[in-house]
Amino acid sequence: MSTTPSTPSTTQPFKAGLEDVVACSSDICFIDGKEGRLVYRGYDVADLAEHSTFEEVAYLLWYGRLPGRIEFGAFLDGFTGSIELPIETVMILRMFPKAATPMEVLRTAVSSLGHWDPDSGNTRLDACLRKAQRLTERIPLLIAAHQRLRHGYEPVHPIPGKSIAYNFLYALHGEEPDPEMVRAFDVALILHADHELNASTFAARVTAATMSDMYSSVTSAIGALKGPLHGGANEQVMKMLQEIGDPAKAEQWVLDALAKKVKVPGFGHRVYRTEDPRATVLRRYAEKMSTVAGETRWFEISSIVERTMRANTKVYPNVDFYSATCYHTMGISTELFTPIFAISRVVGWTAHILEQWTNNRLIRPRADYTGPENLRYVSIEER
Ligand SMILES: CC(C)(COP(=O)(O)OP(=O)(O)OC[C@H]1O[C@@H](n2cnc3c(N)ncnc32)[C@H](O)[C@@H]1OP(=O)(O)O)[C@@H](O)C(=O)NCCC(=O)NCCS
Repeated sequence: MSTTPSTPSTTQPFKAGLEDVVACSSDICFIDGKEGRLVYRGYDVADLAEHSTFEEVAYLLWYGRLPGRIEFGAFLDGFTGSIELPIETVMILRMFPKAATPMEVLRTAVSSLGHWDPDSGNTRLDACLRKAQRLTERIPLLIAAHQRLRHGYEPVHPIPGKSIAYNFLYALHGEEPDPEMVRAFDVALILHADHELNASTFAARVTAATMSDMYSSVTSAIGALKGPLHGGANEQVMKMLQEIGDPAKAEQWVLDALAKKVKVPGFGHRVYRTEDPRATVLRRYAEKMSTVAGETRWFEISSIVERTMRANTKVYPNVDFYSATCYHTMGISTELFTPIFAISRVVGWTAHILEQWTNNRLIRPRADYTGPENLRYVSIEER
């Protein structure tokens, strides 16, 4: 008979929000919060952002190593095989109420994709890898198709053989995207692909650990990403830049916010104690894209906000700060900034789901019970 107590000790210390709790071991992603380093499978994300592509990073995260030339060619063909959205999913997209937000639509539509996946119900590793690839190909198409439909336009068919970054911008705007924009978007996808046990990835792993399926696990992750404490900070950054509106007003705006103890969106991080390495790369791209788009105002305001924050606080910009300007200069509406996060993070979610299944144990923590005890049931007539 087990000697384990049936309830956890009330004296057992724990930090709210599972802060600093190590919940699993993982070969996928390493964050050095002190040095400001983010590493995927041993490769520094800055190195990948400089030299790799989102598709190659997807291969790296799923298979644990960079591909050779021939296997990468076959891998890219796998994306092309799932390039169109199922017709039933497009029908569902047409049925959403006008008021449905892009994140709500994404959550429901991704769940629906599982019904029309040819590998639905097949839990073998090769089938799950194909599902991960289909999800990665189709999430950007879903977001773009819904955005067009809600603005009265028909979805645009993606172009086989083009990158995920290219096809998202093409399917969203209905015209060939600028090559520099495509590269900047590709880099943003690389930088957001994984971030260890963030809330949505943890949600995906918890669902996967019940031996539920990949679509259910990714739907759980999207539900977690939707919350404003997780995805969504880059939307707040853009709203702040628009509220400031003029570089001449930026410094005072920040000083006023700090005086009112308001948290400035796009600054601070639970793990990084120095600059978020993703912000370092995105700052460069935000400046470059602003010049390409001929609209430098948002970058100028951002630079002054950052300078004022650095002079008056100990917090650094995070990934969301410059991604807002990058996406805005690509003509992407602010309401799509959180869904865009899912375009990239689905690769990390699915890598973690696959890793969870290689050595699975149900994730089932305990709660420290603080409610009443020893109450006796009283019938409703006597209450
Ligand atoms: C990300 C975040 C939730 C991390 O929170 P946390 O780890 O609990 O850190 P804390 O809120 O305890 O902040 C530590 C200190 O930095 C300050 N700080 C943190 N983020 C700040 C911000 N964005 N603006 C101003 N000050 C900030 C806090 O006021 C606190 O100062 P104090 O020690 O003098 O009280 C928080 O920084 C935040 O809300 N940032 C804005 C939203 C955002 O950009 N989120 C995206 C994260 S990727």
